[in-house]
Amino acid sequence: KIVSVILCGGSGTRLWPLSRTGFPKQFLVLNGQSSLFQQAVCRVNSIAGNEFLVNETLIVTNEDHRFLALDQLRELKEVDARLLLEPVARNTAPALTLAALQANVHGEDPILVVTPADQTVVDESAMTDALRQSVQAAVSGEIVILGITPDRPETGYGYIHYDGNLGQSGKHKVLKFAEKPDLETAVQYLSSGNYAWNSGMFVLKASTWLNALKKFRPDILRTVSAAWESRSDDAMFIRPDKALFDQVASESVDYAVIESCPGSEVNISMIPLVAGWSDLGAWDAVWQTGQHDSNGNMLVGDAFLADSSNTLIYASNRLVSAVGVEDLVIVETADAVLVVDRKQSQQVKKVVSMLEQQG
Ligand code: GDD
Ligand code: MG
Repeated sequence: KIVSVILCGGSGTRLWPLSRTGFPKQFLVLNGQSSLFQQAVCRVNSIAGNEFLVNETLIVTNEDHRFLALDQLRELKEVDARLLLEPVARNTAPALTLAALQANVHGEDPILVVTPADQTVVDESAMTDALRQSVQAAVSGEIVILGITPDRPETGYGYIHYDGNLGQSGKHKVLKFAEKPDLETAVQYLSSGNYAWNSGMFVLKASTWLNALKKFRPDILRTVSAAWESRSDDAMFIRPDKALFDQVASESVDYAVIESCPGSEVNISMIPLVAGWSDLGAWDAVWQTGQHDSNGNMLVGDAFLADSSNTLIYASNRLVSAVGVEDLVIVETADAVLVVDRKQSQQVKKVVSMLEQQG
């Protein structure tokens, strides 16, 4: 049995001011016709249609975004999914734990294909190949991560040190995993030639996740299990108990478990994904993956640039113009304007946390 798990309860603060608490980035249409969330759901389901059967789709998101997710799911028609609703965001480790418990509700120990909802993939057939290999490997109880060949010292990603060399296909043992290194370390990893980026997509059995969590973060397993056991559910929504889920530690899959796996008895391997992958995590990534003119500028909406280069303007409501700038991101919405050095766009979350502190 195969269950597709979509993690889409993030707040997407680095894409502020377009991404908002009420409408986070995974539900935005940033490229093409559909939202990042819809693309994530279809990525696994459409491949599954041809290659293997996905028996169930579980969406894990925040209670506040249930109708947003539901509306966008309904637009996809053919997808049959249930939504696990978190009363509060506790990052991805608790979210995946809810999904693993729910997927295993009848004790079938299914394989989980876990996909974040903030990325794009161009080459579907390469994606299919990588997933097929991953599902095969995961049957034996391994954690399989899909790895991306890095092309810049990005600090917003996890880095996978693997047994092998760049460009080698097939499965590789993971020797070390380092989540979000500083720039200096990232530069070093990039030049080593045997580090891949963590795509955030991974494949594993429900029991593999639950056992690894029991080993490394028994507290998270205990509190999430208690909240899930006291859940309320109907045909569409599954809600863990709020008071119990409140007590869960906030931790990402990467920090809670993946970093601890290499060298332990939990087997972890990496399968390269060469499929035109990109994460639309921050504004720089939107610029990187978008269409540029000959000066490297990307203009969305009513925007105008003169004597400028490598700049992104995203205008929602008004005409936005700039002269003589480079490597800048300017985002205009009805009630907020952001100007940021494109290379520092990871830091936009600082603005958001300052705003939150001010209430
Ligand atoms: N359900 C739920 N609940 N989902 C969440 C939560 C939560 O509390 N927090 C985040 N998510 C979802 C986001 O919506 C996103 O789709 C996905 O989980 C990953 O979370 P991010 O917050 O975007 O993580 P990241 O981009 O900083 O880092 C991760 O992804 C990188 C690749 O894009 C890590 O896995 C890195 O190692 C990886 O390189
Ligand atoms: Mg992300």
